[in-house]
Amino acid sequence: MKRRVTKAIFPVAGLGTRFLPATKSVPKEIMTLVDRPLIQYAIDEARAAGIKEFIFVTSRGKGALEDYFDHSNELENTLRKKGKMDLLETLKSTNMDSGAIAYIRQHKALGLGHAVWCARRLVANEPFAVILPDDVIAAEKPCLQQMVEAYEETGGSMVAAMEVPSEKASSYGMLDVKEDMGTIVSVKGMVEKPPADEAPSNLAVIGRYILSPKIMQNLNKIDRGAGDEIQLTDAIAQEMNEDRDVFGYRFSGQRYDCGTKAGFLQATVAFGLARPDLGPEFSEYLESMVALRNAAQ
Ligand code: G1P
Repeated sequence: MKRRVTKAIFPVAGLGTRFLPATKSVPKEIMTLVDRPLIQYAIDEARAAGIKEFIFVTSRGKGALEDYFDHSNELENTLRKKGKMDLLETLKSTNMDSGAIAYIRQHKALGLGHAVWCARRLVANEPFAVILPDDVIAAEKPCLQQMVEAYEETGGSMVAAMEVPSEKASSYGMLDVKEDMGTIVSVKGMVEKPPADEAPSNLAVIGRYILSPKIMQNLNKIDRGAGDEIQLTDAIAQEMNEDRDVFGYRFSGQRYDCGTKAGFLQATVAFGLARPDLGPEFSEYLESMVALRNAAQ
């Protein structure tokens, strides 16, 4: 019997060094696309997919994340007194039901696999989702919801997948495809950040996963892999060695790599343009900037 996926792990322990000096005092996940922190996009996507329990794997210096999801009575009272009901409504999405959110510390930076493993006791014996908040996906139907619906048919474990140019393979987990069924591919192997000429395909893993609880046992057993870190990719690959099904899911939507400055800027522009309150003016501004640049060349 397939079980519903109600728990999601958000690995948010990374130092965010690519965004220094900003991340010296602000967790990367609190950085905003327009006016919402990256983590808010991840939480909204999880909620849309039916997730009820949110597990954050954090580290030192990530306190702003806990405050963000806490009720701020003072702020709420002030807004209420001033009749700012629209802002109160905006704050609602940042509130969590009591007990719905848990924070676990990753005491050592041993990699994504280790971060996920830190949440093993909270996951217990249930399938669970993992969302990497760096990967922001704009989609009509949120990516994780697309995957949960597909997973209800397939079971096993499932990773979001996307074609990437072969020279980018060394930045991703790459899939070795057993059978390509279009939206869903069945997978016979996975390699973390291979050199371009050793990638088994051009299908890359993007930061959305639905995983069998067995992955936690695999994480217990595996050695350090690429980058001398405990890799989630290796623990998923172990599933196939033990004859359990793993699928890649070609999601529909636009993915932004907000772990890089270029990706973050692209997402900022795209989300700004998509906002009804800002889009028209912003678009005019961008067009005039481009025209100016072209004229100067
Ligand atoms: C992680 C995973 C990798 C995956 C990527 C997607 O890598 O280890 O398999 O392809 O996320 O964004 P990171 O980008 O954290 O180095």
